[in-house]
Amino acid sequence: MPHVTRVKGFADLFPPDSAVFAAMEDAARAVFSRFGFEEVRTPLLEFTELFTRSIGVETDVVRKEMYSFADSRGRSLSLRPEATSGVVRAYIDAGLNDGVGRLFTLGPMFRHERPQLGRMRQFHQINCECLGTDSPMADVEMILMLLAFLREIGLSGLKLKINSMGCAECRPQFRNALSEFLTKVDAGDICPDCARRAETNPLRVLDCKVPGCRVLTAEAPVITDMQCPACKDHFAEARAILEARSVDFELDHRLVRGLDYYCRTTFEVESVTIGAQSAVAGGGRYDGLVKSLGGPDVPGVGFACGMERLALLVQKPSPSVPDFFIVGTDVEAQKAAFNLAQYLRTATLRGVVSFSTGGMKSLMRQADKSGAKWCLIIGPEELAASAVTVKDMLVGRQITVPQNDIFSILLQPGIRQ
Ligand code: HAM
Repeated sequence: MPHVTRVKGFADLFPPDSAVFAAMEDAARAVFSRFGFEEVRTPLLEFTELFTRSIGVETDVVRKEMYSFADSRGRSLSLRPEATSGVVRAYIDAGLNDGVGRLFTLGPMFRHERPQLGRMRQFHQINCECLGTDSPMADVEMILMLLAFLREIGLSGLKLKINSMGCAECRPQFRNALSEFLTKVDAGDICPDCARRAETNPLRVLDCKVPGCRVLTAEAPVITDMQCPACKDHFAEARAILEARSVDFELDHRLVRGLDYYCRTTFEVESVTIGAQSAVAGGGRYDGLVKSLGGPDVPGVGFACGMERLALLVQKPSPSVPDFFIVGTDVEAQKAAFNLAQYLRTATLRGVVSFSTGGMKSLMRQADKSGAKWCLIIGPEELAASAVTVKDMLVGRQITVPQNDIFSILLQPGIRQ
């Protein structure tokens, strides 16, 4: 019978990739806790309205990438395409708006995009949100925390790009100027996506990657030239703090991000080595989002990293070597082996017991395959003497010792010398 395959764009993770993911998660928890961030876990499934209201109906994510379906009562539900909307909803639900909230979350997100290297339909984000302050210091601290995390997982030489999107006061003016500029561009000269975006979401035309579109928008108005004094000051202060911290960054006025909730500072971290899907992290400020989802008027700033993209860049850990592989050569000896294995694990040694008994050759093959440092053998003679034979799998030497002395052998690799 043909087996049931996995869904396109959804991956199974085995070692070493699963170990890479676990190491990234450990690093995230360690780094973020130094900045006072706490972990929150929110559901994978939310009402679709959450995403249409937060991300925006005209974004690619909401228009064509969400996994949405109706529940038995006809309400539209969606698998989360990103984490910010759910974290903000949870923040409002839990009434956390007392002081500054620092929350991070890790887990799978779902977007129905065309899969390619670094782009999956189920992918994983490491996501951080700082709610309750509009200080530019918070924007910079998020960037510093992101860079500290990237350093912790061994990445350097990545490019940080920043921009400011203005606010509800000044962005409409820029949007109008851009629309006006786009009316002068022949719709036949830009890509079909941009022809549509010019009508519905003109800012997105700026970050189109199609070379022809970039040439045609080279002379487009620049967002930071048209901002209100408050947004200009906010961005100037954020840049000054970055400079004072000697953080390298590039100003990129095309960095408008693909989700509608952003205002003021936006940023992305790019790798030059992983091909088309080069953004390994992205984020920015979203001061109107909490209010637009029915919460208090609380500002926020955050970012998310794509774990699949980071995994393409980090070094794979060498496989972890188990301490022991233990065998019993008959049913009674196997029971003793089983008990000894349990005892060894209480002392944090790592290893497995063979569930088969017969044939020394086959047992040794299993021990070899396990990659363990030590093979422990209990046969009828060892059983009678409460002993165990310890074989050093690296050099092949073996000795028989009382079971009571096992730790002195395994914890100090004495018989190797
Ligand atoms: P985003 O730029 O849509 O932002 O996604 C953040 C990161 O997720 C991207 O830079 C990329 O590394 C990764 N990513 C996105 N889509 C895929 C995919 N299909 N396959 C693999 N990786 C992907 C957000 O999601 C915002 N919620 C970030 C944020 C948090 N802004 C404020 N707070």
